[in-house]
Amino acid sequence: MILDKVQLTKFRNFESVQFSPSPSLSIITGKNGSGKSSLLEALHYLGYGRSFRTSKHQSVIKHDNDAFTIFACCQNDDGKQFKIGLSRGNSEQFKCSVNGEHFKRLSDLVSLLPIQLFTPQSTDLVIGSPSERRRFCDWGLFHVEQSYSELIKNYGKVLKHRNALLKDYNGQSAQNDTGYWDQQIIVLGERIDTLRGEYVNRLIPVFESTCMQFLPEFSVEISYYRGWEKDSDLSQALNKKLPYDRKVGYTSVGPHKADLRFRVNKTQAQEVLSRGQLRMAVAALQLAQTKLFTLETGRHSIFLLDDIGAELDAEKRERFIDGLLETQTQVFVTAIEQEQLEFVNKYKDKKLFHVEHCNVNEE
Ligand SMILES: Nc1ncnc2c1ncn2[C@@H]1O[C@H](COP(=O)(O)OP(=O)(O)OP(=O)(O)O)[C@@H](O)[C@H]1O
Ligand SMILES: [Mg+2]
Repeated sequence: MILDKVQLTKFRNFESVQFSPSPSLSIITGKNGSGKSSLLEALHYLGYGRSFRTSKHQSVIKHDNDAFTIFACCQNDDGKQFKIGLSRGNSEQFKCSVNGEHFKRLSDLVSLLPIQLFTPQSTDLVIGSPSERRRFCDWGLFHVEQSYSELIKNYGKVLKHRNALLKDYNGQSAQNDTGYWDQQIIVLGERIDTLRGEYVNRLIPVFESTCMQFLPEFSVEISYYRGWEKDSDLSQALNKKLPYDRKVGYTSVGPHKADLRFRVNKTQAQEVLSRGQLRMAVAALQLAQTKLFTLETGRHSIFLLDDIGAELDAEKRERFIDGLLETQTQVFVTAIEQEQLEFVNKYKDKKLFHVEHCNVNEE
């Protein structure tokens, strides 16, 4: 997948801009507050239907306006061209279209564009809450297993029903019997667990070899925790926890509690790694996912790297971008100054853009 042309209207500080990125590497420079992250944020919308900086869609609409629009001409991996559009007003729902045809569900649109993001906050993938890591795994599965997003959605609905009964529990089991929902949780949950477990098993060797290049001085291991005890199946785990779940009013075991656990030299990652090294561990993980995605689907993804200069030395920046370009990923990098990216002279198909006065100028 390649973005050939991107057009934004009334998005953040941009009234109306358009630019034609390189199919391989686009470097976006500009002063603080010029709009570099906003450009990546707009691309992120195309891949996720949301911002990576705010959960309020209104915040990205240019001040004193009613709606933003993002439009892109894309090329899929067979060279076929298509156009996608996404807009959102202050109060209304998303409007999205592919080749001018209205798409009802935002999820249909975002499944077209496999986009990953790396920012200074990405260390949360290692040191943040398990939900970050579940989301990471689910991205990989979502773009590889077609049925996966439906599975996750259905699981979420069933879980909500079970939790509602648990919350209402007043000591009368008959009225609040969760049995019906348990059965569905078990079927969907075991399936999610199998897919995730298999995915992580495929990811681990790719991650380990990438980590050897990025952090050769450490032994970094990841392992998969499925969300309940090792030695029991989900049905047993739900039964065992039922009294506790009734007390707290939610389901405390299941794939919604799954995690990827990081160990560096057999210890918690944040105890051993510096900030920059943590960022490299995340870079290795995301690069491993990119490689696996390309290997398994034969497709190419898009990678957004915001503020590459933050806490990564020049050698690490270069290694990361090299790795991404080797997988023929379309890469977008932002930096305040071009001096942070002197090594890019070696890349042939790059394009340089400078953001200034709410315009994007190709250099
Ligand atoms: N809804 C909005 N309408 C208009 N302008 C906005 C809106 N939201 C943010 N801005 C402004 O948009 C500008 C661009 O912000 P952005 O975060 O993209 O800059 P940046 O180039 O990434 O800066 P930095 O180098 O500091 O990361 C900022 O000046 C910000 O104040
Ligand atoms: Mg920024």
